[in-house]
Amino acid sequence: MSEQLKRQAAAAALEFVEDGMKLGIGTGSTALHFVELLGEKVAAGMKIIGVPTSERTAELCKKNGVPLTTLEETPQLDLTVDGADEIDPKMRLIKGGGGALLREKIVASASKNMIVIADKTKIVDALGVFPLPIEVMPFGLGSTMIALEDVCKRFGMQGSLTQRKAADGTNFVTDGQHFIIDATFGRISDVEGLDTALRAIPGVVETGLFVGIASKAVVAGEDGVSIIDP
Ligand code: A5P
Repeated sequence: MSEQLKRQAAAAALEFVEDGMKLGIGTGSTALHFVELLGEKVAAGMKIIGVPTSERTAELCKKNGVPLTTLEETPQLDLTVDGADEIDPKMRLIKGGGGALLREKIVASASKNMIVIADKTKIVDALGVFPLPIEVMPFGLGSTMIALEDVCKRFGMQGSLTQRKAADGTNFVTDGQHFIIDATFGRISDVEGLDTALRAIPGVVETGLFVGIASKAVVAGEDGVSIIDP
């Protein structure tokens, strides 16, 4: 059922894609549906070009016949369509459950608009139940962890910091060759303040907090698809 809802959200977001658009293409299980449906449109003659937000998505695009470009060749995009782990009423997001947060944020920020695709379970009153992914440099990890602990506790972290592991138990490494630390908050009350404080730590590359980036969400539930446009 959940896959069906993700596909419905992806299909509804496709309505916002126009011929000739330069797209940012998200990462994750919801974005996967979008890529498959976009591939069908391309096969039917739609002319678009996309920048993938991960190596995984690049592979998927190739498999589905979606033409790709880079931000070097095409630095300004019309629209990014991507999933999210949490969406709050102010359209602030937690992203990075799949580990692609840095490229996702670069690509979405290079786009005029970002549309989030999700099933209803991603809608929350306040961000923070989903552990916040923080992308960090491997160099100086011990010192970065101390600084992270300090900032996260000041901003009300209830749980702890955990370094993300890959399925084989080794450290998870992002496409940018960085590590990810997941911070279990419970509830983040000052989203902007936390984001600014985390990004001020030298070893932090980026956070999974997306503030002021997404413009709309296309959300699918048992009762149909709704567009949230705050
Ligand atoms: C990838 O790094 C993430 O930001 C995903 O966009 C997010 O985790 C949503 O993924 P799903 O669509 O698989 O839930």
